[in-house]
Amino acid sequence: MLNRCWNSSTHTLSPNGIAIAVSPVADYENMLFDDESVCIKNAVSKRRKEFSTGRMLCRKCFDILGKEHAAVLQGTNREPLWPEGLKGSISHTYSLCVAVVTDREEILSVGVDIENQYGVTPDLWEHIFSADEILYIKESSSPSMTAAVIFSAKETFYKMQYPLTGKMLDFKDVEIKLDGRSFDVGFKGQNKVFEKSLSSGHFMAHDTHVLTISYMVKNG
Ligand SMILES: CC(C)(COP(=O)(O)OP(=O)(O)OC[C@H]1O[C@@H](n2cnc3c(N)ncnc32)[C@H](O)[C@@H]1OP(=O)(O)O)[C@@H](O)C(=O)NCCC(=O)NCCS
Repeated sequence: MLNRCWNSSTHTLSPNGIAIAVSPVADYENMLFDDESVCIKNAVSKRRKEFSTGRMLCRKCFDILGKEHAAVLQGTNREPLWPEGLKGSISHTYSLCVAVVTDREEILSVGVDIENQYGVTPDLWEHIFSADEILYIKESSSPSMTAAVIFSAKETFYKMQYPLTGKMLDFKDVEIKLDGRSFDVGFKGQNKVFEKSLSSGHFMAHDTHVLTISYMVKNG
């Protein structure tokens, strides 16, 4: 699913029709549509850069898909609002940004997340992970990377499900199981957003970051 060689200037189309664009965070405000600029009119410099880099990468994805450039505005819960017929997702760290977009009808929603490999420190684990996830992380060969992947998978799943359900989720509402370069999402507690897990999740490690993608296909 994800190209093994993704790096900080990847622009590619995955085999299932999801355009992926990655780039360092920088100032791309001159590329924004007027109604996008309004979204950051009172924002600090860091936020202006991450927002404008995200929108620049959406344009790269539109190019890959052969679509005209159009504004990606913001919904009431900060979710990106995609032009008719498109679905996508955006993520940024302090230094890197990623956008994914698809026009495939059979893909109902897609989410993406990028995290620093060393950003999910052990003091955060009990707030984010279940007991089984913590055990799995501790027993893995690289606990910091495994923690970053599982955290990122939760964020990615949240962004993927939000446009379909409109639901807020807590980190402990879902439990992630890694399998090779893929992950499964299980539901804990009462906040079960789908009857069964119909989503696919994939992850990839880079020398400093991890990247996760989650998508849901019609009829599973
Ligand atoms: C929105 C959230 C998932 C990520 O935000 P973040 O920490 O700023 O991290 P990222 O940079 O990876 O993602 C930001 C992007 O997510 C997108 N986003 C924000 N809210 C969203 C939502 N409700 N649905 C889908 N995408 C959303 C936006 O495109 C945003 O970038 P932009 O404002 O520049 O357009 C997180 O802050 C949040 O609110 N989490 C809720 C709880 C949670 O994550 N639960 C997980 C358990 S399943």
